[in-house]
Amino acid sequence: MFHSQVFLRCWKKVSFVDAKTGLYGVFGDPVGHSLSPVLHNWFMRRFGINGVYMAFAISADRLQKAIQALPTLGFVGVNLTIPHKEAVLAYVDHCDLQAEIIGAANTIRIVDNRVDAYVTDADGFVLSLHKQQQRFHNASVVMLGAGGAARSIAYALARLQVARLAIINRTYSRAESLARFVRERFQLPDTKALPEGEQLEGLSSADIVINTTSVGMYPYTSESLVKDPRVFHNGQLVYDLIYNPSATRLLHDARRNGAEIQNGLDMLIYQGLVSLNIWRQDTYELRAADLQELRQVLTQELAAHE
Ligand code: ATR
Repeated sequence: MFHSQVFLRCWKKVSFVDAKTGLYGVFGDPVGHSLSPVLHNWFMRRFGINGVYMAFAISADRLQKAIQALPTLGFVGVNLTIPHKEAVLAYVDHCDLQAEIIGAANTIRIVDNRVDAYVTDADGFVLSLHKQQQRFHNASVVMLGAGGAARSIAYALARLQVARLAIINRTYSRAESLARFVRERFQLPDTKALPEGEQLEGLSSADIVINTTSVGMYPYTSESLVKDPRVFHNGQLVYDLIYNPSATRLLHDARRNGAEIQNGLDMLIYQGLVSLNIWRQDTYELRAADLQELRQVLTQELAAHE
């Protein structure tokens, strides 16, 4: 009796495919190095979901057809990654308010033949902060980068009620236009682009510095956008959205100068969990031991790619 119960419980957790298996996936180009299949298939096993998650290489010119085919093929949901996050909005039936405000979607849910779009990056960022969330209230934040990822982070920063946001970007005009967008759409009035002459002072006086660019990502691990590490200091939090390597040059420099650091692995995990909860209309949560195991699984997967 006892043995058969144990067997049943284990058996439920083993992934298998049958006629009822739900189909999930990620659309991207390139998508071969995506961690999402490992992440989501881990979720499926952990939460006992009869589902399978695959990576699909979909080029930009085929995105519309691929999205339109989802209800016919019986998909439950998909994620979107580079380069589809913005373009996809033109091909969906309904767009969640947050995705509409941010102007991008990374999650599609198919329900009753309808294709709905959501974005989970901002929620993923907020959840990844754990107990650090409180630090953002009334904080002075410098954000490096002004692309799509920066837009989602700025939305999260507005929700976390930071006091001010300064944006540093290689192309200054993009920093200016993101700052305008944030002031107008996210109701964060004290947002500005930082010109080069003010960047050292801005970084030194920031409570929190966030890198949203790919600078420092594997294999270009010796690069950092902050040329003078002396801007980092005790009491500061430096967050890099990059998770490969686990500590970028920016994070090494920050830590050496006394700042606290965080990489992007937990944000990756939580944006995935939020997607899963949207697809399943559920409230799955990760316990501390789950998070620990998942970090290890993903880190091993990253090492296997190198
Ligand atoms: P994502 O959606 O990942 O944010 P993106 O929209 O292409 O991608 O934005 C990439 C961001 O990283 C931009 O802020 C970009 O700066 P530019 O606006 O000047 O292009 C920044 N970035 C990328 N490579 C960079 C580099 N080598 N040096 C400085 N900034 C870089």
